[in-house]
Amino acid sequence: HLSALVEFPIGVAVPAGDAGNSVLNSPERQAIVEQHFSQITAENIMKPSYLQPSEGRFFFDDADALVAYANNNGMSVHGHALIWHFQIADWMANYSGDAQAWQQMLEAHVTEVASHFEGQLDSWDVVNEAFLDDGSYRNVDVGNDLGSVWYQNIGPQYIEYAFNAARAADADVDLYYNDYNISWNDTKLDAILTMAQDFLDRDIPISGIGFQMHVDKSGPGKAKIKQQFQKVVDLGLKVKITEVDLRMNADGRATTLTNQLLLQQKARYQEIVEAYIETVPPSLRGGISVWGIADPDTWIVPLYGNPDWPLMFDDQFQPKPALQGFANGL
Ligand code: XIL
Repeated sequence: HLSALVEFPIGVAVPAGDAGNSVLNSPERQAIVEQHFSQITAENIMKPSYLQPSEGRFFFDDADALVAYANNNGMSVHGHALIWHFQIADWMANYSGDAQAWQQMLEAHVTEVASHFEGQLDSWDVVNEAFLDDGSYRNVDVGNDLGSVWYQNIGPQYIEYAFNAARAADADVDLYYNDYNISWNDTKLDAILTMAQDFLDRDIPISGIGFQMHVDKSGPGKAKIKQQFQKVVDLGLKVKITEVDLRMNADGRATTLTNQLLLQQKARYQEIVEAYIETVPPSLRGGISVWGIADPDTWIVPLYGNPDWPLMFDDQFQPKPALQGFANGL
């Protein structure tokens, strides 16, 4: 019972909606979620393409069913994600209008969605992945980095428009800026925190920073992770680990999950959790969420192609040593 060990949320991303492995139709997944976790994130179904598939037509049935499942089982919900460059509907990607029309379109989405869930969620990822690794705003496509239509059509102000609209719609929900690679990339985290400081100075509502933490078996190490969390704590903002998973086979050399890999993974989950507990004071702990229930669900394998085992439960939905590592860290 992981979540029974602490006061702050221990979360998990779950498949839902029309996904073949939807948690709502999967007793073995529900057993894990209900035993170990106190919060869920929808892995996909609260993203813009799902909630507003065509302009002005919102679809909340699947998300409402998931929120009801969470509430009926004593779990809270972390909303993911109001504004992102990816998984937006085609009509949104191809929207035509000037900056003001784009701003209205963005605000209409955020307002409708955040109002719909008002009072039902602990927190939202308000804006996801607006920065690149070099600290610049995501703009046009560069190499493997997809561009952001929000930035291209509105400019960097789209971020504060989203935060303002989310707060206007829901007075109490925590509002996060969420991104990847920031547990090791100083340039990127510093750029995000410059924005966050500016928001604080100008009273733009922001509660915390979400660290996705899709990380690798080889790094970043505990000391580096602590340093990065500390920078957020120093601003008085909450720290939430929003999507942790641990790639064990990025180099593709492993064909099976060996005991050595299992133990390495256990140690890595433990040190990530320890870094969090040792750095983030209780008042700033937004919680720790893993990105998936069991290895068959991971997004990592379809994305990279190698066999991999990034999560804390195995193919048979049995706990791996990683679960004990996570618990040890708490
Ligand atoms: C991923 C999901 O896990 C996949 O099922 C989907 O195909 C693509 O998105 N960062 C995020 C998440 O913020 O929304 C992403 O989720 C993983 C990376």
